Amino acid sequence: MTSLAQKSKPSFVIQGLAGKRTLKGTIRINGAKNAALKAMAAAVLFEGPVTLNNIPNNADIQTMTEVLKRLGARVETVKDLDRGLSLLIDPTPISSTDIDKDLAGGMRASVVLTGPLLARYGKVSFPAPGGCVIGARPIDLFLTAYEQLGATVSETKCLYDILGEKLSPKEIAFKKISVGATETLMMLAVLLDGKTTLNNCAKEPEIVNVAQWLNACGAKISGAGTSTITIEGTSGKLLTPKIPFVTIPDRIEAGSFILLAALTAEDVTIDSCEPKHLESLTEPLKASGVSVEIGQSSVRVTSNPNSPKTFKAFNIETREYPGFPTDIQAPAVVFLTQAEGISTVKETIFEGRFKYVEDLILMGADISTISPQQITITGPSELKQPIDGTELTAHDIRAGFAIVLAALIGEGKSVVNNVHLIDRGYEKLEERLRNIGADVVRV
Ligand code: UD1
Repeated sequence: MTSLAQKSKPSFVIQGLAGKRTLKGTIRINGAKNAALKAMAAAVLFEGPVTLNNIPNNADIQTMTEVLKRLGARVETVKDLDRGLSLLIDPTPISSTDIDKDLAGGMRASVVLTGPLLARYGKVSFPAPGGCVIGARPIDLFLTAYEQLGATVSETKCLYDILGEKLSPKEIAFKKISVGATETLMMLAVLLDGKTTLNNCAKEPEIVNVAQWLNACGAKISGAGTSTITIEGTSGKLLTPKIPFVTIPDRIEAGSFILLAALTAEDVTIDSCEPKHLESLTEPLKASGVSVEIGQSSVRVTSNPNSPKTFKAFNIETREYPGFPTDIQAPAVVFLTQAEGISTVKETIFEGRFKYVEDLILMGADISTISPQQITITGPSELKQPIDGTELTAHDIRAGFAIVLAALIGEGKSVVNNVHLIDRGYEKLEERLRNIGADVVRV
């Protein structure tokens, strides 16, 4: 919560629908931020300029663009279409392997660049990575793997220096499943001399998206999307930019909008998405009573505004893909505040991902904290803007979306501060919500 006097960053002013489900229209889903950022990092493995299509135009992509430029890479936006950006990245002029401290401090995904830089130039320096304020986000898996491949790791005042002129492929077993570590080591191994095996890998579709593109350009990666990935290295031969990278639809953006539609839509279609990537969300929503129609590349959510259905409560435990995504946990909790009965939500991936709950309680939600990683929600509750006029705050990208959703279903006018954090993951959110009939203004 922030007092009225503390505002300097952009905010949303949201007129609540007071529980009415009246929104109508189509929301088109952008390319997946979490795949696009990794493909941007993978561009370092190429012998010349690569093209990346369907890139979302959000703040994290802009930060990654700037990080690459400061290393010396040429990054150009070749098209700025309605459907995302098309980026051209030429790694040839890269003259530095020092990842910018200030930029990387604000975005954890920058750590993924360390793999391709180390593979190509034999060294990399980078700061302890930042990103969302969602509990401790260590990088031990990356560092241990680099050492296992023969690199030396040194740290001074949170700045890491990795040296590895001659890395040797090995069998690496991650002690924990990590999306970033899987992708980073997969990319690094592409240029090594021999076979690298990665065990206990993450299976997220974004990893498969990047691996398929690298394979089409000369890499030999097998098993992406399973828990064991093997990479036959090219012995230093850089990849050939044979085909452009095409970013898959953002399943987190799609899932967030499906939850929003479940609570606010008379008839809203979430378009240009991949429903297969969303089953861990759409299945429990259907069972809960939401009218969900799954198409080839769309999900339609409908309700009868004159006799809105009640929804049944259900439990959530966040898990690695194909489990319930931690990134949809916060908007799902807002959904559960409107469902009948008691739900338990257990966050197993990150610590500190329930900070937004305090704001929901102030808005009238009935939520109890069982442990730092587990809450129970008793619903349904009517949400309202806090009576003392206190403004709401986006704590991170996803919690920010959740608070916007709570304000939208609630009564009265609410202000949500810190929406620059929401901009990191959801492009032009207010315009897209206005297009389906919501009253959301950026101030
Ligand atoms: C990615 C996504 C993020 C998503 C997360 C989990 C991007 C840019 N971000 O983040 O949106 O929420 O996957 O689906 O793709 N861990 C360690 N040591 C490490 C690395 C990770 O202990 O060296 C831990 C983390 O603290 C966390 C867990 O592993 O508890 C999973 O994190 P990870 O999968 O690495 O998340 P990211 O790749 O950072």
